[in-house]
Amino acid sequence: MHCVANRMILEANNIEKAYMSGEQKIPVLMGVDFKIAAGEFVSIQGESGSGKTTLLNILAGLEKCDSGSISWESKQIDSLSLDELAKRRRSFLGMVFQSYYLVPELNALDNVLLAARIAQNGISERIKNKTLFLLEKVGLLDRQKQMPNTLSGGERQRIAIARALVTEPSLVLADEPTGNLDEHTGNRVMDLLSSLCSELDTALILVTHNKSHAELAKSKIYLERGKACSEK
Ligand SMILES: Nc1ncnc2c1ncn2[C@@H]1O[C@H](COP(=O)(O)OP(=O)(O)O)[C@@H](O)[C@H]1O
Ligand SMILES: [Mg+2]
Repeated sequence: MHCVANRMILEANNIEKAYMSGEQKIPVLMGVDFKIAAGEFVSIQGESGSGKTTLLNILAGLEKCDSGSISWESKQIDSLSLDELAKRRRSFLGMVFQSYYLVPELNALDNVLLAARIAQNGISERIKNKTLFLLEKVGLLDRQKQMPNTLSGGERQRIAIARALVTEPSLVLADEPTGNLDEHTGNRVMDLLSSLCSELDTALILVTHNKSHAELAKSKIYLERGKACSEK
């Protein structure tokens, strides 16, 4: 059998991060290592306040760490200017959040198209087709003209998933994407997110409190006392 090691998508080494609370330094991440290869699915669990969102923001290059290094597709991101980093992020990364963050003034279709427009300076025929393909995949092709406030939580999150994938990113970061949904809807959204990422060969990092969702991942990470471990 022909065996090729999967291309590394993101690698983080010895990440440290502390916040100041007045005079007091509060360490959050104390030497976290992390990596994910193309198309892989990794879940991150940990108590509330253990630093999961902080870690995701650092991996996304949205927040600076105090020390450590991060590479996207083997290129260290600290060597990029803020402009370069933002530009790179738009094509490298899609994000899904607990509270959806759709633009309330735009209908479902335009919310997805907006992400593509920003990332690619305009809309090509290919991107329009991709958008319709994804709306179909998330089961909302016939709801594309609806405004976010006329959609349910599960439907909004499915739009957000289409938006995260429309730029054809190498990696999707999802921070408690089912946190605002009831169990049944949450399971449906999670199935959709993991199966779409798998179908499109997109790597997925999922932060979740839901054990059964975490179990869907190929590898599981726990954040505890500033460290990441793979066993609990
Ligand atoms: N901008 C900030 N300033 C100060 N403290 C912060 C900031 N962001 C997060 N923290 C603190 O860092 C810790 C980890 O937060 P967070 O990463 O949001 O945890 P989680 O996502 O696991 O719940 C918490 O104690 C939180 O209060
Ligand atoms: Mg969080």
